[in-house]
Amino acid sequence: MKPKVFVTRQIPEIGLARVREVCEMTLWENELPASYEHLIERVRGMDGILCTLTERIDAALMDAAGSQLKVISQMAVGYDNIDVRAAHARGVPVGNTPGVLTDATADLAFALLLSAARRLSESVQYIRDGQWITWKPLDLLGADLSGATLGIVGLGRIGQAVAKRASGFDMRILANSRNLSDEQAWEHNATRVELSTLLRESDFVSLHIPLSPETRHLINRETLAQMKRNAILINTTRGGTVDQLALYEALRDGIIAGAALDVTDPEPIPLDDPLLTLPNALIVPHIGSATVKTRNKMALMAAENLIAGVKGRLLPNEVKVK
Ligand code: DGY
Repeated sequence: MKPKVFVTRQIPEIGLARVREVCEMTLWENELPASYEHLIERVRGMDGILCTLTERIDAALMDAAGSQLKVISQMAVGYDNIDVRAAHARGVPVGNTPGVLTDATADLAFALLLSAARRLSESVQYIRDGQWITWKPLDLLGADLSGATLGIVGLGRIGQAVAKRASGFDMRILANSRNLSDEQAWEHNATRVELSTLLRESDFVSLHIPLSPETRHLINRETLAQMKRNAILINTTRGGTVDQLALYEALRDGIIAGAALDVTDPEPIPLDDPLLTLPNALIVPHIGSATVKTRNKMALMAAENLIAGVKGRLLPNEVKVK
């Protein structure tokens, strides 16, 4: 008998096909994610769950699934939506998809950095508003990258890939990361500094730390106040790392110059969120890993983690909690 698995969202067919080869698959086919109540119903009796960051996978949901549950496989590198400790306490390994989305996410971080520096969304709006009546020496002036300082908070895989891109743009790179040595920072053309130094000296600050109780609202009123007035904040990790109200006030009051966000808290950002009224806030809908190749690789990797788990094998990519 094939193991029973529940796949919580439509994911690329390459991943679904692989799951179908080995498992009896139930798929949540709606465009919108299942409500928590629906999820609880659907996971009952499943050997495996393949989920995405839109689902809350907590202890109660694992218990609802039942003691036969063998694996939770997340199609994302971040897993703050999953109670990993609760899974481990039940002997259930959790898989994720690191590595395959590094370049796509770093590309997007850099696209946001460049767009905010050169005020691209304001420029598009400028034309739409009929303001392009002539070339003006003083309009839409932005910031140079060459010679500017980029502060990378979290020099893991994606932070390193951002550093690589920044090196090509002749930027000075500062980095702050847990357990980072000077030598490790130098390997990526970066200088290791305390967070306060990074915030004080950087023209651009890019966040690449996972969301955890320690990093929730790392960027808040106090840390924003330490940043330069010309600074631009880039966030491609999780919205919860930034206190969004504090960010709104900082952008409105000129405490920092701009922000470019791929992630918000909550997601989607409500249409009446004041951040959406600011010309110096550029917000895109969590598209860091949204390339065809990358999403295919993530789907396949999540499928392989799921299959390994239902077969009782070690997952190719298992989340370890320290
Ligand atoms: C992740 O993988 O954690 C991204 O946020 C979604 O691709």
